[in-house]
Amino acid sequence: MSAPGHLLSVADLGVEGIEEVLAVSDSFVEVSERAIPKVPALRGKTVVSLFYEESTRTRLSFETAARRLSADVMNFSLSNSSAAKGESLRDTVQTIDAMGVDALIVRHSSAGVPWQVASWATCSVVNGGDGWHEHPTQALLDCYTIRRALQLRAGTQRQHLDGLRIAIVGDIKHSRVARSNVLAFSMLGAEVTLVGPPTLLPPSLEGWPVAGASHDLDDVLAKADVVYLLRLQAERQTEALLPSLREYTATFGLARERARLLRDDAMVMHPGPMNRGVEIAAEVADLPRSVITRQVANGVAVRMAVLFLLLGSTPSGDLHG
Ligand code: CP
Repeated sequence: MSAPGHLLSVADLGVEGIEEVLAVSDSFVEVSERAIPKVPALRGKTVVSLFYEESTRTRLSFETAARRLSADVMNFSLSNSSAAKGESLRDTVQTIDAMGVDALIVRHSSAGVPWQVASWATCSVVNGGDGWHEHPTQALLDCYTIRRALQLRAGTQRQHLDGLRIAIVGDIKHSRVARSNVLAFSMLGAEVTLVGPPTLLPPSLEGWPVAGASHDLDDVLAKADVVYLLRLQAERQTEALLPSLREYTATFGLARERARLLRDDAMVMHPGPMNRGVEIAAEVADLPRSVITRQVANGVAVRMAVLFLLLGSTPSGDLHG
């Protein structure tokens, strides 16, 4: 990434770009562990979160990341803005851009909106999640979390996810997280299997760089190094595609008994927000093998890395200043 570049899709990064973000994230994990977790790297820059759809993690994580880099942060609120009076997305973007901001973090329920925003704005644009399409920083923080856990476990600086068996379970069809994660995991060498009922899997695996798809979670669990559960997305009418929520949970939910099928060193992940008791049992979410809160914590450092690589003009040697 180079200023005034954008981060719109994992595909734009390629393996080298992903590796660069993960390497820089290591420095920002160290910054985040300091008593005063702040560096002057983006002093004078302004980052705006332009969220047209709800978010807790992504928005707060980006705002925290920007503040820890000493950037100024502006938060666009749909209900309190002129968008509520009918202002078009384009006019809103061009109005904010005219204020001289440096980056827009964009979330929207329609696929492709961050690309449109990038064509209208003169600043950097980061995709914070567009419809069913992509959520690149979620994929980056997930890759970082897996790689960091493997490094700590092995006591090595393992760089790739070569041969790691990752099962992504649930509503794959409507999931931007699944799309970005399949791209990122496969680029780093992991073997990805999609698991879910036929109605929630893509109709064809063409274009999905995965080892295969399965409707048998128990069979996949016993072989998996990582089980990545997806939220059942009620706002996307997923329940209408299922006989019942109870049956979904019985067949594809990671219940406590089913979690016993996992290998001792297998990790459980979830992008949040979780439906406890639906795709994941409450007690499984809190097991030591669950790295869900680590995903959130690493998300701040990874987003610091993304903002720094897009907007930072100083070499990485200055990070520790
Ligand atoms: N994982 C994720 O995107 O969560 P939020 O919707 O809370 O941002």
